[in-house]
Amino acid sequence: MLILAGRTSKVLFVVSILLAFSFLAPVHAQDNSHPWWQRAVFYEIYPRSFADSNNDGLGDLRGITAKLDYLRTLGVDAIWISPCYPSPQFDFGYDVADYENIDPMYGTLADFDVLAREAHKRGIRIIMDFVVNHTSYRHPWFLESKSSRNSPRRDWYIWRDGKGLGQPPNNWESSFGGSAWTFDPATGQYYYHYFETEQPDLNWRNPSVEKAMFDVTRFWRKHGVDGFRLDAVDLLFENPDLKDNPVLPGKNEFGDPNMTNKYNDNLPEVHKELQRLRKVTDANGQVLIGETWTDSIGELNAYYGPHQNEIQLPMDFMFTTVNKPSASGFRKQIRLAESAAGWPVFVIGNHDIVRSYTRYGDGKHNDQIAKLMAGMYLTLRGTPILYYGEELGMENHDPVRKQDVRDPLGQHGWPKQKGRDGERTPMQWDASRNAGFTQGTPWLPVDPGYKTYNVASESKDAASILNFYRRLLSIRRLSPALLDGDYIPIGQDDPDILAYLRRSGKETVLVALNFSNSSRPFDMSLARQGSPHAKSGVLLTTSMADGTVNGEQHVILLSPYAVYIARITP
Ligand code: NOJ
Repeated sequence: MLILAGRTSKVLFVVSILLAFSFLAPVHAQDNSHPWWQRAVFYEIYPRSFADSNNDGLGDLRGITAKLDYLRTLGVDAIWISPCYPSPQFDFGYDVADYENIDPMYGTLADFDVLAREAHKRGIRIIMDFVVNHTSYRHPWFLESKSSRNSPRRDWYIWRDGKGLGQPPNNWESSFGGSAWTFDPATGQYYYHYFETEQPDLNWRNPSVEKAMFDVTRFWRKHGVDGFRLDAVDLLFENPDLKDNPVLPGKNEFGDPNMTNKYNDNLPEVHKELQRLRKVTDANGQVLIGETWTDSIGELNAYYGPHQNEIQLPMDFMFTTVNKPSASGFRKQIRLAESAAGWPVFVIGNHDIVRSYTRYGDGKHNDQIAKLMAGMYLTLRGTPILYYGEELGMENHDPVRKQDVRDPLGQHGWPKQKGRDGERTPMQWDASRNAGFTQGTPWLPVDPGYKTYNVASESKDAASILNFYRRLLSIRRLSPALLDGDYIPIGQDDPDILAYLRRSGKETVLVALNFSNSSRPFDMSLARQGSPHAKSGVLLTTSMADGTVNGEQHVILLSPYAVYIARITP
């Protein structure tokens, strides 16, 4: 008999809780054949918004340290901390003024060392955000570069003469709106910045730049850093002839002409450089994660390198382009990810993307859908990267007035582009004032949903999104099949249910996900795969429907947006 026939899902639910909590353990299923980062669950922390230890309204490193036990019990293996280096904060830290220190608003290097030590004690690794493409315009390197045309650092950035009076060198646009060139009257030349004026691009063709940046990785190795997330890595090189980009019809949200970034994005030189960087980080024992926006699997594959010698974990953002719960949409993206040249990386949200709860929610089944999404991206073959608060069901809280916008992207693009403040609001720890994030005034307003969606309240609610994440991550941690087993799609013509097996050695796990807003039958014989006597044991389900249809025990009914995860034993 395959299923717990005739039992209600409430029983399944209790069973799943018991199973899950007995799985809580600090170690993974034993197997040394996979590097740690293939089995790890990563968690992105936006430090301004995570936990404020000194009540100045901004999160800080001591705040993160104080929450490490929370992360450990959630089941996190590594934290990626968005930039916390000294910075004038024009782009909230993505404008670095010193790569080898900590901004005082976040604490000190000594605080960082404590954080790294305490994290490692708990088996949590640390990933720094490495802003490789550009610095702050207040970085000493840029100040020196700007000081004179003859400065020894002039060539560390990209300086060019204009085409004529008041005319930049070419038509390249900043992704924050306007020209990508800013004129410096003192030296009579333009400098290039793909992002804000305050974020000049480094010139990676200059070997001294490369050396300085490689040294940064060694500096952080000494401080216990286990890897880097490479910011905007596709933008490292520009065409040296500065050819104009092809212009497309229409205007973008900033009112600038649409264009393809043919000559300043994704140039082949990036790959040679990544291979050189990889040698350095390998020597340091550090892993590379890439902010790799790609349009095709071919482009994504290139980032693994021809011999797996570039980025170990290039993020697959094509996954985030499926913007509604859709079995067929995700099936297609998973198929592509499965065909990738290296280990897949799954992301459904981050500090630049509208929160997944908001993107996928239908207004009626939001919590079920949040669990459904987790049921998918935490059970696929690959490394998942959670965004802080995703495990609670935090939603976007966008500004409604231009004067409230903090993000430069929103300030330039308002009202078409509201910026990214909405997905960066303070972490919701409890139901007290400011969601327990700070006793001061938070830098961004807390989402009003915090009274329900917070760590303390959800911890007490067995059916919460948080407890679903905890259970699922604890099951994943001890399941070789879920950690690195094969992905075997089943029932591929089903328009509503996305189902697959994960199989490793003797263990097979079934994942069936109902992507529709009504109950749907799922044929369990699909999971038996030629073993008619195979049995199934439910590991975790959110289905509130009865486990049988018309008394036929080989069919289970999945309630709207339900997750059903079971171990199949031959
Ligand atoms: C990508 C980062 O994720 C984003 O937040 C930032 O604005 C740009 N890079 C510029 O650094």
